[in-house]
Amino acid sequence: QEIDKQHFRHFMLKEIHEQPETVELWLSKHLPIHAPIDSPIVLPYDASFYESIEQIQILACGTSRHAGMVGAYLLEQFAGIRTSVFFASEFRYAPPPLSPHTLTIGVTQSGETADTLAALSMEHQRRSVLDNNDFASFQLGITNSSESSLALQVPNILDIGAGIEVGVAATKTFLGQLLAFYGLAISFAARRKSRSQEEINALCEELRSIPKQLKDLVKEHNQLAESLAHRFADTEDVIFLGRGINYPIALEGALKLKEISYIHAEGYPAGEMKHGPIALLDQRVPVISIATEGIVFEKVLSNAQEAKARDASLIGICPQTVETQIFDSLLPIPKVSEWISPLLTVIPMQLLSYYIAAQRGLDVDQPRNLAKSVTVE
Ligand code: G6P
Repeated sequence: QEIDKQHFRHFMLKEIHEQPETVELWLSKHLPIHAPIDSPIVLPYDASFYESIEQIQILACGTSRHAGMVGAYLLEQFAGIRTSVFFASEFRYAPPPLSPHTLTIGVTQSGETADTLAALSMEHQRRSVLDNNDFASFQLGITNSSESSLALQVPNILDIGAGIEVGVAATKTFLGQLLAFYGLAISFAARRKSRSQEEINALCEELRSIPKQLKDLVKEHNQLAESLAHRFADTEDVIFLGRGINYPIALEGALKLKEISYIHAEGYPAGEMKHGPIALLDQRVPVISIATEGIVFEKVLSNAQEAKARDASLIGICPQTVETQIFDSLLPIPKVSEWISPLLTVIPMQLLSYYIAAQRGLDVDQPRNLAKSVTVE
């Protein structure tokens, strides 16, 4: 299939702009307006599966692992199921002790990442000694390729259907993976009755409002990020802060920047900054802080204040309010519930790293030393 960049300078920029459509497509398939919303992701399991699963383990690499971390937050905090996320490359050689009633989810957009495939296969074999009535070796794959090695290896696949992604740095497939986890968390919460119907409806309604908000956001932030990127011409280090459901987005922001601009970046849960990274701060180190309204809003703002006191230049990814005036620059996002905020906060992350790399004249779509899928260990 021939794909071109249309009027975009790079595939990555085109793929960032395709994200409202990625969500629209996903919604039309999994949360159509007049259909019942208790199970956006239908798994071929019976009711006892949903009821008896006690824990979920997520195996992935790179950006897919960050999607898994948002997924774990949703599965634990929204659906109430204990969930752990592992680097597939670590899990392969040091898995946790076996326990029944466990669902293993492999996340890989390409479906070809060697470490993820090997970790899943090792886990399947290791679990085959357990009784299958205890759902011991159930595996699920989340991928953008229904014809991948993952799809051949794992019996059940959630195809995120984001279309071909050419840029090595994952953007729309990351968003697609997040959507798969929203669907799973809603389905589990509904079947296990861990959330009321009102709470489930509210989350579904918010998801349905995303495409429109995303369209406006991409347009607005495209310009904002392009003009802000100039300030990073000589930057060597950047710190990304987030908390709760947006901590993985801080990690993803740092990974994107490293991957395509070759600037050293670190993502930290904001409350941990005082235990080390704060020593790095001075006027040469910008701090990009995600501060969405919710249980940790005030905390993130006070963490940002601490950074400001060290002369760091502060960029806020947050709603435009009185409290957020402490930031030197603002990449404003609409006021939404904390649950769905990652679907929006990731956009400025992607666009800012894109423009920083593009303005440095780098090969954004094919960064040095990286490959779209890493099929070796
Ligand atoms: C490579 C890419 C990363 C990607 C990772 C996992 O290392 O450079 O951007 O996140 O693979 O890819 P996957 O296909 O498993 O999601």
